[in-house]
Formats: sequence, structure tokens, C-alpha cells
Amino acid sequence: MSMTKPFSVAIDGPSGAGKSTISKLLAKELGFIYVDTGALYRAIGYEVLNRGGKPNDSDFVEGILPEINLELKYIEDMQCVLINGEDVTGLIRTPEVSMAASSVSAIPAVRRFLFDLQRETAQKSDVIMDGRDIGTVVLPGADIKIFLTASVQDRAGRRYEELKLKGISTTYSDVLDDMTKRDYNDSNRAAAPLKAAENSIMVDTTGNTLEQSVEIIKGIIQKARNN
Ligand code: DC
Repeated sequence: MSMTKPFSVAIDGPSGAGKSTISKLLAKELGFIYVDTGALYRAIGYEVLNRGGKPNDSDFVEGILPEINLELKYIEDMQCVLINGEDVTGLIRTPEVSMAASSVSAIPAVRRFLFDLQRETAQKSDVIMDGRDIGTVVLPGADIKIFLTASVQDRAGRRYEELKLKGISTTYSDVLDDMTKRDYNDSNRAAAPLKAAENSIMVDTTGNTLEQSVEIIKGIIQKARNN
């Protein structure tokens, strides 16, 4: 049996740049697995809140990690995250969990805890994996590394529309504030901060429609696969 190394595409960038929507669409088209690594940090943030802890209390967060069994499952192409057997996929998209995820993601023990799961998933299948440190830390040998970004106003506008569609009540200015805070936390933490990998391709989606951004990324992937 030939054991060709799976193909991996790393997509990093700040929240709301379109990483997950674009990655999901392209993974489906290419027959790759889409791995949303933010969901793992969100699951930890959710669990901390659920247990009454503070997401920036590193002793508390570290203390509960040994009690957490995290699994990724794929049901009809959709990624599900399970904590100790419970599917929390539908519970981790609230603004509270977003902030909690950003806080717990600054704790090195949390990053170590999630590293193997991410790495092993990319060893098993062709993946498009999105996050903040995929090209820099998790898959430094990825076949393609993309850094996807857009202005904070654009990103907040898109996220606001998404939340509204889901019936989550919030305002544009709250979303913009949260996003600015998360950008700052994610880019300035000591552990694996958000930054473009050295050999990544920078794509700015400001002002683009989703279709335009998808075409750009698709072109980059096709070009690399044909080489
Ligand atoms: O992509 P997202 O918004 O679902 O991610 C939630 C938080 O998790 C984000 O604020 C930063 C953190 N995160 C990270 O530190 N590293 C990753 N690879 C993915 C997410």
C-alpha cells in the first residue's frame, strides 16, 4: 500500500476574516477534511465557564485539563467537538465563549493539551486546518500556508451578520469591541501568538464577496497542487 503523506493547507488569520466559511467550502470541493481548531479552544473555554471558573485563571484551567477528554468527530462533513462524550458543537459560538476561548488560548498548558489532537488529525487525512498558529506551530511543514486577513470593521460587520442570523442578540459596536480585544489578545500573547508564517501567502479579503475570496484561495491551492 502506498503511504503518501497527506496534503495539508494551513489557514491562519484573525477572527472574522472568512477562514472557516472559505475552508469549509473548499474542503468539501477538494474532498479534504476541514479542521476548525478554534472550536477546540472554544470547547475548553465553554467547559471552564460551565464549571464556574474564570478563563484567565490559569491554575483553575490547568487543573481541569486532566479531567477533559476532547474528541473531534466528522458527521456528514461537519466537525463535531465532544467533551467527555457530550457534543458541545452547538454551544460554543456565543460571544461569551468567544472571549473565554481567547483567554484560555493564551495559557501554554492549553496549547500543549490541544497540540497532539491537531497534529494527529493532519497525519491521518488531507486537511484544510484553520486557526492562529497552524502554519507557525502546529503544521510548520504544511504544503500551503495562507494568512487570511481583512480590516477589523469588515470582519466585525460579517460576524455581526452571522450572529444576527443565528438569533444571538448583540450590536455591531459590541462585536467590534470584542473583535478588537480578541485581536489584541491573540496577537500579543507570549504563547504562539497570531502571526503570519514566514513562507505564507497573504490574502486580504477586505471588500471581497465570499465568492471572490473563495476563488482566490482555490487558485492558490490548485496552483500548488499542480506543481
Ligand atoms: O477561530 P475562533 O474565533 O473560533 O477561535 C477562538 C479563539 O481561539 C481565538 O480567539 C484564539 C484561539 N485560537 C488559537 O489561539 N489558536 C488557534 N489555532 C485557533 C484559535
